[in-house]
Amino acid sequence: MKMKFNYESITDLLDEINSAGFELPVSYDLKILEQPVHLGGKTIPNALSIHPMEGCDGTKDGKPDKLTYRRYERMARGGAGLIWIEATAIVPEGRANPRQLFLCRQNVEAFSRLYDLIISTSQEEFGSDYRPYTVLQLTHSGRYSKPEGKPAPIIAAENPYLDKSSLHYRIITDDELKQLEDRFVEAAVLAQKIGFDAVDIKSCHRYLISELLSAHTRNGEYGGSFENRTRFLLNIVDKIKTRLGDSIDIAVRLNAYDAIPYPYGWGVDAEDDSKPDLAEPIKLVELLKEKGVKLINITCGNPYYNPHIGRPFDTGGYSSPEHPLMGVLRLLQTARDIQKSVPEVSIIATGFSWLREFAALIAAGGIEAGWFRIAGFGRQAFAYPDFPKDILLHGAMERRKCCIACSKCTEIMRRGGTTGCVIRDRGVYAPIYKSITT
Ligand SMILES: Cc1cc2nc3c(=O)[nH]c(=O)nc-3n(C[C@H](O)[C@H](O)[C@H](O)COP(=O)(O)O)c2cc1C
Repeated sequence: MKMKFNYESITDLLDEINSAGFELPVSYDLKILEQPVHLGGKTIPNALSIHPMEGCDGTKDGKPDKLTYRRYERMARGGAGLIWIEATAIVPEGRANPRQLFLCRQNVEAFSRLYDLIISTSQEEFGSDYRPYTVLQLTHSGRYSKPEGKPAPIIAAENPYLDKSSLHYRIITDDELKQLEDRFVEAAVLAQKIGFDAVDIKSCHRYLISELLSAHTRNGEYGGSFENRTRFLLNIVDKIKTRLGDSIDIAVRLNAYDAIPYPYGWGVDAEDDSKPDLAEPIKLVELLKEKGVKLINITCGNPYYNPHIGRPFDTGGYSSPEHPLMGVLRLLQTARDIQKSVPEVSIIATGFSWLREFAALIAAGGIEAGWFRIAGFGRQAFAYPDFPKDILLHGAMERRKCCIACSKCTEIMRRGGTTGCVIRDRGVYAPIYKSITT
Protein backbone atom coordinates (compact mmCIF):
# COMPACT_ATOMS: atom_id res chain seq x y z
CA MET A 1 0.00 0.00 0.00
CA LYS A 2 1.44 3.40 -1.02
CA MET A 3 1.55 5.72 2.00
CA LYS A 4 0.27 8.63 -0.08
CA PHE A 5 -2.92 9.79 -1.72
CA ASN A 6 -3.10 7.62 -4.81
CA TYR A 7 -6.66 7.49 -6.12
CA GLU A 8 -8.04 8.39 -9.49
CA SER A 9 -11.66 7.96 -8.52
CA ILE A 10 -13.87 7.85 -5.45
CA THR A 11 -14.33 4.13 -6.17
CA ASP A 12 -10.56 3.58 -5.79
CA LEU A 13 -10.65 5.40 -2.47
CA LEU A 14 -13.70 3.51 -1.18
CA ASP A 15 -12.16 0.19 -2.24
CA GLU A 16 -9.10 0.94 -0.15
CA ILE A 17 -11.24 1.98 2.83
CA ASN A 18 -13.35 -1.16 2.56
CA SER A 19 -10.40 -3.47 2.11
CA ALA A 20 -8.89 -2.01 5.31
CA GLY A 21 -12.14 -2.99 7.06
CA PHE A 22 -13.59 0.50 7.46
CA GLU A 23 -16.55 2.40 6.12
CA LEU A 24 -17.03 6.02 5.24
CA PRO A 25 -20.37 7.49 4.23
CA VAL A 26 -20.40 9.04 0.77
CA SER A 27 -23.11 10.98 -1.04
CA TYR A 28 -23.10 11.87 -4.70
CA ASP A 29 -25.75 14.48 -4.10
CA LEU A 30 -24.07 17.57 -2.64
CA LYS A 31 -27.29 19.50 -2.01
CA ILE A 32 -27.10 18.81 1.73
CA LEU A 33 -23.98 21.02 1.90
CA GLU A 34 -26.11 23.99 0.81
CA GLN A 35 -28.42 23.59 3.79
CA PRO A 36 -28.16 26.23 6.51
CA VAL A 37 -27.28 25.09 10.02
CA HIS A 38 -29.31 26.76 12.77
CA LEU A 39 -27.66 27.49 16.10
CA GLY A 40 -30.18 28.92 18.52
CA GLY A 41 -31.04 32.34 17.12
CA LYS A 42 -28.29 32.40 14.49
CA THR A 43 -27.81 30.71 11.16
CA ILE A 44 -24.75 29.38 9.39
CA PRO A 45 -25.72 29.78 5.72
CA ASN A 46 -24.22 26.47 4.52
CA ALA A 47 -22.56 23.40 6.00
CA LEU A 48 -18.97 24.21 4.95
CA SER A 49 -16.50 25.75 7.37
CA ILE A 50 -13.01 27.16 7.19
CA HIS A 51 -10.97 25.94 10.16
CA PRO A 52 -8.79 28.36 12.10
CA MET A 53 -5.50 28.63 10.18
CA GLU A 54 -2.72 30.89 11.40
CA GLY A 55 -0.78 32.81 8.82
CA CYS A 56 1.75 34.18 11.37
CA ASP A 57 1.45 37.41 9.46
CA GLY A 58 0.14 39.96 11.98
CA THR A 59 2.05 43.08 13.00
CA LYS A 60 4.54 42.93 15.85
CA ASP A 61 1.87 44.29 18.20
CA GLY A 62 -0.71 41.71 17.10
CA LYS A 63 -2.91 43.49 14.58
CA PRO A 64 -3.93 41.85 11.32
CA ASP A 65 -1.53 42.98 8.57
CA LYS A 66 -1.59 43.04 4.75
CA LEU A 67 -1.29 39.28 4.23
CA THR A 68 -3.83 38.63 7.00
CA TYR A 69 -6.41 40.81 5.25
CA ARG A 70 -5.59 39.15 1.95
CA ARG A 71 -6.14 35.64 3.37
CA TYR A 72 -9.53 36.47 4.85
CA GLU A 73 -10.69 38.36 1.80
CA ARG A 74 -9.93 35.27 -0.32
CA MET A 75 -11.70 33.00 2.16
CA ALA A 76 -14.75 35.28 2.35
CA ARG A 77 -14.96 35.33 -1.44
CA GLY A 78 -14.92 31.53 -1.38
CA GLY A 79 -18.31 31.31 0.31
CA ALA A 80 -17.85 29.02 3.33
CA GLY A 81 -20.85 29.48 5.61
CA LEU A 82 -18.59 29.56 8.65
CA ILE A 83 -15.25 31.34 8.88
CA TRP A 84 -13.36 30.38 12.02
CA ILE A 85 -10.70 33.04 12.48
CA GLU A 86 -7.29 31.82 13.57
CA ALA A 87 -5.61 31.56 16.98
CA THR A 88 -5.65 35.01 18.57
CA ALA A 89 -3.75 35.50 21.83
CA ILE A 90 -5.45 37.00 24.87
CA VAL A 91 -2.19 38.03 26.59
CA PRO A 92 1.16 38.93 24.99
CA GLU A 93 3.10 36.23 26.85
CA GLY A 94 0.71 33.60 25.44
CA ARG A 95 1.51 34.34 21.78
CA ALA A 96 2.86 31.38 19.80
CA ASN A 97 4.98 33.60 17.56
CA PRO A 98 5.88 37.29 17.33
CA ARG A 99 3.33 37.76 14.54
CA GLN A 100 0.40 35.95 16.13
CA LEU A 101 -2.76 38.05 16.36
CA PHE A 102 -3.43 39.55 19.80
CA LEU A 103 -6.82 40.92 20.78
CA CYS A 104 -6.55 43.88 23.15
CA ARG A 105 -8.13 47.34 23.32
CA GLN A 106 -5.41 48.94 21.18
CA ASN A 107 -6.01 46.42 18.38
CA VAL A 108 -9.81 46.56 18.25
CA GLU A 109 -9.95 48.92 15.30
CA ALA A 110 -7.75 46.67 13.17
CA PHE A 111 -9.82 43.59 14.12
CA SER A 112 -12.98 45.54 13.23
CA ARG A 113 -11.50 46.21 9.82
CA LEU A 114 -10.87 42.48 9.41
CA TYR A 115 -14.43 41.65 10.45
CA ASP A 116 -15.88 44.31 8.12
CA LEU A 117 -13.75 43.02 5.27
CA ILE A 118 -15.08 39.48 5.75
CA ILE A 119 -18.69 40.65 5.78
CA SER A 120 -18.42 43.20 2.95
CA THR A 121 -16.49 40.82 0.69
CA SER A 122 -19.05 38.05 1.30
CA GLN A 123 -21.91 40.42 0.50
CA GLU A 124 -20.20 41.74 -2.61
CA GLU A 125 -19.93 38.16 -3.81
CA PHE A 126 -23.20 36.59 -2.62
CA GLY A 127 -25.62 39.49 -2.14
CA SER A 128 -26.51 41.90 0.63
CA ASP A 129 -28.56 39.33 2.58
CA TYR A 130 -25.66 36.90 2.82
CA ARG A 131 -23.71 36.74 6.06
CA PRO A 132 -21.18 34.08 6.98
CA TYR A 133 -21.07 33.03 10.64
CA THR A 134 -17.80 34.21 12.20
CA VAL A 135 -15.93 32.69 15.13
CA LEU A 136 -12.79 34.21 16.65
CA GLN A 137 -10.43 31.68 18.24
CA LEU A 138 -9.06 32.93 21.59
CA THR A 139 -5.93 31.26 22.86
CA HIS A 140 -3.08 31.05 25.33
CA SER A 141 -0.26 29.05 23.77
CA GLY A 142 0.97 27.61 27.07
CA ARG A 143 3.95 25.32 26.52
CA TYR A 144 4.25 26.56 22.93
CA SER A 145 4.41 30.26 23.80
CA LYS A 146 7.11 32.02 21.80
CA PRO A 147 6.20 35.70 21.93
CA GLU A 148 9.68 36.99 21.07
CA GLY A 149 10.57 34.21 18.64
CA LYS A 150 12.24 31.89 21.16
CA PRO A 151 10.46 29.37 23.40
CA ALA A 152 9.05 30.83 26.64
CA PRO A 153 6.87 27.94 27.81
CA ILE A 154 4.22 28.26 30.49
CA ILE A 155 2.84 24.84 31.33
CA ALA A 156 -0.04 23.26 33.24
CA ALA A 157 1.99 20.20 34.28
CA GLU A 158 5.27 18.50 33.47
CA ASN A 159 5.07 15.95 30.68
CA PRO A 160 7.82 13.40 29.97
CA TYR A 161 6.63 13.02 26.37
CA LEU A 162 6.65 16.73 25.55
CA ASP A 163 9.22 18.38 27.85
CA LYS A 164 12.61 19.06 26.25
CA SER A 165 15.69 18.91 28.48
CA SER A 166 17.03 22.08 26.82
CA LEU A 167 14.12 24.23 28.04
CA HIS A 168 13.06 25.64 31.36
CA TYR A 169 9.37 25.04 32.03
CA ARG A 170 7.38 27.26 34.38
CA ILE A 171 4.21 25.75 35.83
CA ILE A 172 1.44 28.33 35.89
CA THR A 173 0.00 28.88 39.39
CA ASP A 174 -3.66 28.55 40.37
CA ASP A 175 -3.79 32.31 41.07
CA GLU A 176 -2.43 33.09 37.62
CA LEU A 177 -5.02 30.78 36.06
CA LYS A 178 -7.80 32.59 37.93
CA GLN A 179 -6.59 35.91 36.54
CA LEU A 180 -6.23 34.44 33.09
CA GLU A 181 -9.89 33.38 33.12
CA ASP A 182 -10.74 37.06 33.30
CA ARG A 183 -8.43 37.88 30.41
CA PHE A 184 -10.38 35.44 28.22
CA VAL A 185 -13.56 37.26 29.30
CA GLU A 186 -12.05 40.68 28.46
CA ALA A 187 -11.14 39.42 25.00
CA ALA A 188 -14.67 38.02 24.53
CA VAL A 189 -16.09 41.44 25.43
CA LEU A 190 -13.97 43.03 22.69
CA ALA A 191 -14.95 40.32 20.19
CA GLN A 192 -18.61 40.93 20.95
CA LYS A 193 -18.18 44.70 20.40
CA ILE A 194 -16.51 44.07 17.05
CA GLY A 195 -19.44 41.91 15.96
CA PHE A 196 -18.11 38.34 15.77
CA ASP A 197 -20.89 35.79 16.13
CA ALA A 198 -18.88 33.65 18.52
CA VAL A 199 -15.64 33.26 20.40
CA ASP A 200 -13.87 29.92 20.55
CA ILE A 201 -12.18 29.11 23.85
CA LYS A 202 -9.41 27.14 22.17
CA SER A 203 -9.00 23.78 23.91
CA CYS A 204 -6.93 21.80 21.43
CA HIS A 205 -3.48 20.85 20.15
CA ARG A 206 -1.92 20.90 23.63
CA TYR A 207 -1.90 24.64 24.07
CA LEU A 208 -2.71 25.79 27.62
CA ILE A 209 -6.36 24.76 28.01
CA SER A 210 -5.83 21.54 26.10
CA GLU A 211 -2.94 20.70 28.43
CA LEU A 212 -5.04 21.46 31.51
CA LEU A 213 -7.60 18.87 30.36
CA SER A 214 -4.97 16.15 30.83
CA ALA A 215 -3.31 17.60 33.96
CA HIS A 216 -3.81 14.43 36.04
CA THR A 217 -0.49 15.00 37.80
CA ARG A 218 -1.11 18.67 38.70
CA ASN A 219 -1.96 19.55 42.31
CA GLY A 220 -4.48 22.16 43.39
CA GLU A 221 -7.79 23.36 42.00
CA TYR A 222 -6.94 22.83 38.31
CA GLY A 223 -5.41 19.36 38.36
CA GLY A 224 -6.19 15.75 39.20
CA SER A 225 -9.93 15.05 39.00
CA PHE A 226 -12.05 15.55 35.88
CA GLU A 227 -13.81 18.41 37.67
CA ASN A 228 -10.50 20.15 38.38
CA ARG A 229 -8.99 19.57 34.92
CA THR A 230 -12.03 21.06 33.17
CA ARG A 231 -12.49 23.89 35.69
CA PHE A 232 -10.55 26.54 33.76
CA LEU A 233 -12.51 26.07 30.53
CA LEU A 234 -15.88 25.80 32.26
CA ASN A 235 -15.19 28.84 34.48
CA ILE A 236 -14.39 30.90 31.37
CA VAL A 237 -17.65 29.81 29.73
CA ASP A 238 -19.61 30.68 32.89
CA LYS A 239 -17.91 34.06 33.26
CA ILE A 240 -18.51 35.02 29.62
CA LYS A 241 -22.17 34.00 29.95
CA THR A 242 -22.52 36.09 33.12
CA ARG A 243 -20.88 39.11 31.51
CA LEU A 244 -22.33 38.95 27.99
CA GLY A 245 -25.41 36.72 28.21
CA ASP A 246 -26.47 35.52 24.77
CA SER A 247 -25.07 38.55 22.95
CA ILE A 248 -22.19 36.40 21.66
CA ASP A 249 -22.09 32.64 21.14
CA ILE A 250 -19.43 30.50 22.72
CA ALA A 251 -17.83 27.75 20.65
CA VAL A 252 -15.01 25.36 21.52
CA ARG A 253 -12.37 23.78 19.33
CA LEU A 254 -11.72 20.66 21.32
CA ASN A 255 -9.09 17.96 21.18
CA ALA A 256 -10.99 14.71 21.57
CA TYR A 257 -7.85 12.54 21.53
CA ASP A 258 -4.26 13.66 22.21
CA ALA A 259 -2.55 10.36 21.26
CA ILE A 260 -0.15 10.88 24.20
CA PRO A 261 0.04 8.08 26.80
CA TYR A 262 -2.07 8.24 29.97
CA PRO A 263 -1.84 10.00 32.42
CA TYR A 264 -0.25 12.68 30.21
CA GLY A 265 -2.79 12.61 27.40
CA TRP A 266 -6.51 13.39 27.20
CA GLY A 267 -9.12 11.21 25.51
CA VAL A 268 -6.67 8.32 25.40
CA ASP A 269 -7.16 4.68 26.36
CA ALA A 270 -5.27 4.22 29.65
CA GLU A 271 -3.80 0.89 28.49
CA ASP A 272 -3.14 1.69 24.82
CA ASP A 273 -2.43 5.24 23.67
CA SER A 274 -3.02 4.29 20.03
CA LYS A 275 -6.72 4.14 20.86
CA PRO A 276 -9.04 7.01 21.78
CA ASP A 277 -11.20 6.75 24.87
CA LEU A 278 -13.87 9.39 24.38
CA ALA A 279 -15.64 9.01 27.76
CA GLU A 280 -14.18 12.23 29.24
CA PRO A 281 -14.40 14.33 26.05
CA ILE A 282 -18.07 13.32 25.72
CA LYS A 283 -18.71 14.17 29.37
CA LEU A 284 -17.11 17.59 28.78
CA VAL A 285 -19.19 18.23 25.64
CA GLU A 286 -22.32 17.37 27.69
CA LEU A 287 -21.32 19.94 30.32
CA LEU A 288 -20.58 22.56 27.68
CA LYS A 289 -23.98 21.90 26.12
CA GLU A 290 -25.66 22.45 29.49
CA LYS A 291 -23.88 25.81 29.69
CA GLY A 292 -25.28 26.84 26.31
CA VAL A 293 -22.40 25.93 23.96
CA LYS A 294 -23.95 24.83 20.66
CA LEU A 295 -20.94 24.51 18.38
CA ILE A 296 -17.93 22.23 18.90
CA ASN A 297 -15.10 21.76 16.42
CA ILE A 298 -13.49 18.36 16.94
CA THR A 299 -9.79 17.84 16.32
CA CYS A 300 -7.05 15.51 17.62
CA GLY A 301 -3.33 15.29 18.26
CA ASN A 302 -0.50 17.71 18.84
CA PRO A 303 0.99 19.53 15.83
CA TYR A 304 4.47 19.56 17.43
CA TYR A 305 4.57 15.99 18.76
CA ASN A 306 2.41 13.83 16.46
CA PRO A 307 1.19 15.98 13.55
CA HIS A 308 0.13 12.93 11.49
CA ILE A 309 -2.73 12.46 14.00
CA GLY A 310 -4.40 15.85 13.47
CA ARG A 311 -3.15 16.75 10.02
CA PRO A 312 -2.65 13.63 7.88
CA PHE A 313 0.07 14.38 5.31
CA ASP A 314 1.82 12.85 2.31
CA THR A 315 5.13 14.56 3.00
CA GLY A 316 6.18 16.19 6.24
CA GLY A 317 8.99 16.49 8.75
CA TYR A 318 9.05 12.68 9.21
CA SER A 319 7.41 9.75 7.49
CA SER A 320 4.02 9.07 8.98
CA PRO A 321 3.87 5.83 11.01
CA GLU A 322 0.41 5.13 9.59
CA HIS A 323 -1.28 5.57 6.24
CA PRO A 324 -2.71 9.12 6.16
CA LEU A 325 -6.09 7.60 5.33
CA MET A 326 -6.10 5.99 8.80
CA GLY A 327 -5.62 9.44 10.32
CA VAL A 328 -8.50 10.83 8.26
CA LEU A 329 -10.75 7.94 9.31
CA ARG A 330 -9.88 8.39 12.99
CA LEU A 331 -10.62 12.12 12.85
CA LEU A 332 -13.99 11.61 11.14
CA GLN A 333 -15.01 8.68 13.36
CA THR A 334 -14.14 10.71 16.46
CA ALA A 335 -16.43 13.50 15.28
CA ARG A 336 -19.12 10.88 14.60
CA ASP A 337 -18.88 9.34 18.07
CA ILE A 338 -19.23 12.72 19.73
CA GLN A 339 -22.04 13.92 17.44
CA LYS A 340 -24.01 10.72 18.08
CA SER A 341 -23.46 10.98 21.85
CA VAL A 342 -24.47 14.64 22.14
CA PRO A 343 -26.90 15.28 19.28
CA GLU A 344 -27.98 18.67 20.66
CA VAL A 345 -24.65 20.32 19.75
CA SER A 346 -23.49 20.88 16.18
CA ILE A 347 -20.19 19.13 15.55
CA ILE A 348 -17.70 20.34 12.97
CA ALA A 349 -15.49 17.54 11.70
CA THR A 350 -11.81 17.85 10.80
CA GLY A 351 -9.89 15.69 8.33
CA PHE A 352 -11.00 16.72 4.84
CA SER A 353 -8.02 18.41 3.18
CA TRP A 354 -6.05 15.22 2.50
CA LEU A 355 -9.08 13.78 0.63
CA ARG A 356 -8.63 16.27 -2.23
CA GLU A 357 -11.77 16.70 -4.37
CA PHE A 358 -13.44 13.60 -2.86
CA ALA A 359 -13.82 15.56 0.39
CA ALA A 360 -17.04 17.09 -0.96
CA LEU A 361 -18.66 13.65 -1.39
CA ILE A 362 -17.55 12.49 2.05
CA ALA A 363 -18.65 15.77 3.66
CA ALA A 364 -22.11 15.33 2.13
CA GLY A 365 -22.22 11.62 3.06
CA GLY A 366 -21.12 12.28 6.63
CA ILE A 367 -23.74 14.96 7.19
CA GLU A 368 -26.43 12.76 5.63
CA ALA A 369 -25.44 9.87 7.91
CA GLY A 370 -25.48 12.09 11.02
CA TRP A 371 -21.73 11.82 11.64
CA PHE A 372 -21.40 15.63 11.97
CA ARG A 373 -23.32 18.75 10.91
CA ILE A 374 -20.54 20.80 9.33
CA ALA A 375 -17.41 19.88 7.38
CA GLY A 376 -14.33 21.94 8.25
CA PHE A 377 -11.34 22.52 5.96
CA GLY A 378 -7.92 23.75 7.09
CA ARG A 379 -5.06 23.51 4.59
CA GLN A 380 -7.56 23.38 1.73
CA ALA A 381 -8.57 26.94 2.60
CA PHE A 382 -4.97 28.12 2.03
CA ALA A 383 -4.62 26.18 -1.22
CA TYR A 384 -8.10 26.57 -2.66
CA PRO A 385 -10.14 29.24 -0.88
CA ASP A 386 -12.84 28.99 -3.58
CA PHE A 387 -13.59 25.34 -2.81
CA PRO A 388 -17.04 26.14 -1.24
CA LYS A 389 -18.06 28.11 -4.33
CA ASP A 390 -16.98 25.24 -6.59
CA ILE A 391 -18.96 22.76 -4.48
CA LEU A 392 -22.08 24.88 -4.03
CA LEU A 393 -22.27 26.52 -7.45
CA HIS A 394 -20.50 24.04 -9.73
CA GLY A 395 -21.17 20.76 -7.91
CA ALA A 396 -17.55 19.61 -7.56
CA MET A 397 -14.05 20.47 -6.43
CA GLU A 398 -11.18 20.39 -8.92
CA ARG A 399 -8.14 18.20 -8.28
CA ARG A 400 -5.72 20.67 -9.89
CA LYS A 401 -6.63 23.33 -7.30
CA CYS A 402 -6.44 21.06 -4.23
CA CYS A 403 -4.02 20.98 -1.31
CA ILE A 404 -1.44 18.23 -1.86
CA ALA A 405 -0.72 17.73 1.87
CA CYS A 406 2.97 18.58 1.39
CA SER A 407 3.35 20.31 4.81
CA LYS A 408 5.19 23.31 3.34
CA CYS A 409 2.72 25.69 5.03
CA THR A 410 3.67 24.15 8.38
CA GLU A 411 7.36 24.23 7.51
CA ILE A 412 7.24 28.00 6.88
CA MET A 413 5.39 28.50 10.16
CA ARG A 414 7.92 26.44 12.15
CA ARG A 415 10.79 28.37 10.58
CA GLY A 416 9.26 31.64 11.69
CA GLY A 417 7.85 32.90 8.37
CA THR A 418 4.46 34.20 7.22
CA THR A 419 2.59 31.25 5.82
CA GLY A 420 0.18 30.15 3.11
CA CYS A 421 0.12 27.66 0.23
CA VAL A 422 3.48 27.37 -1.53
CA ILE A 423 2.00 25.24 -4.32
CA ARG A 424 -1.37 26.80 -5.22
CA ASP A 425 -0.70 30.39 -4.11
CA ARG A 426 2.87 30.31 -5.30
CA GLY A 427 3.09 33.92 -6.45
CA VAL A 428 3.05 35.03 -2.83
CA TYR A 429 4.34 32.04 -0.86
CA ALA A 430 6.93 30.28 -3.08
CA PRO A 431 9.40 33.18 -2.68
CA ILE A 432 8.79 33.19 1.09
CA TYR A 433 9.39 29.43 1.23
CA LYS A 434 12.53 29.75 -0.88
CA SER A 435 13.98 32.57 1.18
CA ILE A 436 13.38 30.69 4.40
CA THR A 437 14.70 27.27 3.31
CA THR A 438 17.82 28.31 1.38
C1 LIG B 1 -0.33 26.49 8.80
C2 LIG B 1 -1.36 25.98 9.77
C3 LIG B 1 -1.92 26.85 10.71
C4 LIG B 1 -2.89 26.37 11.62
N1 LIG B 1 -3.43 27.24 12.52
C5 LIG B 1 -4.37 26.79 13.40
C6 LIG B 1 -4.99 27.68 14.32
O1 LIG B 1 -4.73 28.88 14.35
N2 LIG B 1 -5.90 27.15 15.18
C7 LIG B 1 -6.26 25.82 15.17
O2 LIG B 1 -7.09 25.41 15.97
N3 LIG B 1 -5.70 24.98 14.28
C8 LIG B 1 -4.80 25.43 13.38
N4 LIG B 1 -4.28 24.58 12.45
C9 LIG B 1 -4.85 23.22 12.31
C10 LIG B 1 -5.95 23.24 11.25
O3 LIG B 1 -7.02 24.08 11.64
C11 LIG B 1 -6.53 21.83 10.97
O4 LIG B 1 -6.98 21.26 12.18
C12 LIG B 1 -5.51 20.88 10.34
O5 LIG B 1 -4.80 21.50 9.29
C13 LIG B 1 -6.22 19.62 9.81
O6 LIG B 1 -7.26 19.97 8.92
P1 LIG B 1 -7.03 19.85 7.33
O7 LIG B 1 -6.73 18.40 7.08
O8 LIG B 1 -8.31 20.30 6.71
O9 LIG B 1 -5.88 20.72 6.97
C14 LIG B 1 -3.30 25.02 11.56
C15 LIG B 1 -2.72 24.16 10.62
C16 LIG B 1 -1.77 24.63 9.73
C17 LIG B 1 -1.20 23.67 8.72
